[in-house]
Amino acid sequence: MKQRENFGSKLGIIMATAGSALGLGNIYRFPVEAGNNGGGAFLIVYIAVALLIGTPLMISEFIIGRRSRSNPIGAFRTIAGRRTPFTLVGWGGVLSAFLILAFYTTVAGWTLGYLGKSLLNHFDGQDLPQIQAQFTAFVDHPWLPIACQLAFLAMTAFVVLRGVAKGIERWSKILMPLLLVIMLVLCIKSLTLPGASEGMRFLFHPDFSKITGKVLISALGQSFFSLSIGMGALITYGSYIAKNDNMVSSAVSVVFADTLVAVLAGIVIFPAAFSFGIKPEAGASLAFTTLPMVFQQMHGGYLFCLLFFLLLVIATLTSTISLLEVIVAALTEEFHLTRGKAAWLGAAVTAVIGILATISMRSSNPLSIGGTSVFDILDHATALYLMPLGGLFIVLFVGWYMKKTDTMAELTNEGTLRSGIRKAILLVIRYLCPLAIAVIFISQLIK
Ligand code: TRP
Repeated sequence: MKQRENFGSKLGIIMATAGSALGLGNIYRFPVEAGNNGGGAFLIVYIAVALLIGTPLMISEFIIGRRSRSNPIGAFRTIAGRRTPFTLVGWGGVLSAFLILAFYTTVAGWTLGYLGKSLLNHFDGQDLPQIQAQFTAFVDHPWLPIACQLAFLAMTAFVVLRGVAKGIERWSKILMPLLLVIMLVLCIKSLTLPGASEGMRFLFHPDFSKITGKVLISALGQSFFSLSIGMGALITYGSYIAKNDNMVSSAVSVVFADTLVAVLAGIVIFPAAFSFGIKPEAGASLAFTTLPMVFQQMHGGYLFCLLFFLLLVIATLTSTISLLEVIVAALTEEFHLTRGKAAWLGAAVTAVIGILATISMRSSNPLSIGGTSVFDILDHATALYLMPLGGLFIVLFVGWYMKKTDTMAELTNEGTLRSGIRKAILLVIRYLCPLAIAVIFISQLIK
């Protein structure tokens, strides 16, 4: 087999993982989930879960990836030395990648559409009802959202085709920090709007009585989704980490950056939403109505809006790349397809499911099962079921199936890094993570 590439540098793997993590999960999905789950109550659970479960799980995926140097399916087989039920986790991950990519590219298409709208200055001088009507008109358009989605998928396939180090690294390195800067500017604007403090109270004053089973599983699902964990995406990335990289500090940096951007998105969206009279439970339209309203009131709003949607498209692209990469790595290494065939085949299959998800977001929704849209079914199936289960088996594999000496060897880079804190991390992986995931998962099933 030909030698697998490594990421060019330490910064490379952090940036690529951050590129995978940062995306619509932070800027679109986090506010939607926080808005639907009581704001502050959700935020506090979310941060706890990201820290105590998300970080160790991300490290676990890195361990499996670097140890096996393989895609998620081959990884478990390589380490176990034979086929075990854990191989199913790999297949589940590839399935998740298809399902996530399908509905993710619906919203990714919207960002492309909104980039076009900002270029054409569609938000200038519009009031809230007009901006809301624009959103509805866009998602209800017979072909435009589908065309945007397909364009996004094609872009993704194109970048993935160009290979790991070159394709992914180049994009994420330069543009993610710029997105952070723009988010900071937006925060300041949002916080100075009249009535903004009510939004801050919503996000930062937890009402502990609102922490229900639903909030717990939603926060767990959101953190897995936002960190790209629980389905093997980071096993694939881990397989490209160099032997002497410190994956504990890489994981901590990524979780920190990811949480920071989600919280910043909350600080942009909620104060502004309350100020304009947009409900925090607005759901799909929350970001796509609040943000144009903010830009529209800013000096230089046209340029900021344009730059923001451009960066959002790119942040989203680095996420779709990581999803398609899971599919491509599996198809090339398990079925010996060429990279080119694998990328286009993956994109084509995704497109078929994805178009259904996009159509199901129309306001007169014909594509729903039992009152739930195809989009929400895909979202719930992955974030509330497949990823928690995948995460559970990943921590069980690293904590209990792998030899302790092997796990510690990976954690400490064959004994060259301090082992004290890493022993503690292993304990968290063995006990706290599986227990917490199982309890949250089962409590949801019982309800
Ligand atoms: N984490 C990304 C986001 O927040 C989405 C994403 C990319 C993802 N790759 C993933 C989610 C793998 C789950 C699994 O936007």
